[in-house]
Amino acid sequence: MAWITKPSGSMKINRRGEPYLTAAMREELARTIVPRYEVKRGALLPVLRHVQDHWGWLPWQALEEIAAFLEIKPAEVWDTASFYEEFWLEQPGAQGALTKGEHVIAVCRSIACEVCDHKKITDACRGKLGIDVGETTEDGKFTLMELECLGSCDTAPVALIGHHLHEKLTPEKVLALIDEAAKQPGHGQH
Ligand code: FES
Repeated sequence: MAWITKPSGSMKINRRGEPYLTAAMREELARTIVPRYEVKRGALLPVLRHVQDHWGWLPWQALEEIAAFLEIKPAEVWDTASFYEEFWLEQPGAQGALTKGEHVIAVCRSIACEVCDHKKITDACRGKLGIDVGETTEDGKFTLMELECLGSCDTAPVALIGHHLHEKLTPEKVLALIDEAAKQPGHGQH
């Protein structure tokens, strides 16, 4: 969980003429994702993920557009997006921001995974990729992160690789998963 404060009163919002939530995206979301939920706001997390998959991150303008689309307040969208570390609220690679590889490996570092030696998983990734947590490989293929609880404590240690949760990990398993991911296109870079 990331606690992010923002200077709401003076914050400068970069805007562009064209929407991030394009007409084609609205149509697709309205057809495929929104109907799965009893109320529109229920679709917020998958909509955030869809928009992030498309653009690689979630600009503030996109959050406002998502709010209008789901008929909720922009602050509610911000609150949700800033709660989950999986969402990128700064443009990857921009000044002061992390770069983002094609595949993001996110090892859970919260208590259950810590007890089950998540460090061995992170260390295996470090050793294999030659990068530290918060870094991206030179070829842009992988970014390594550690996140708070991924909600699968009973199968600790766990990690996300892209959108997929991998459970009961061992160093050997995660190394094999990295080899497998290296052959696939990822969701990260744009
Ligand atoms: S502590 Fe790792 S999934 Fe909950």
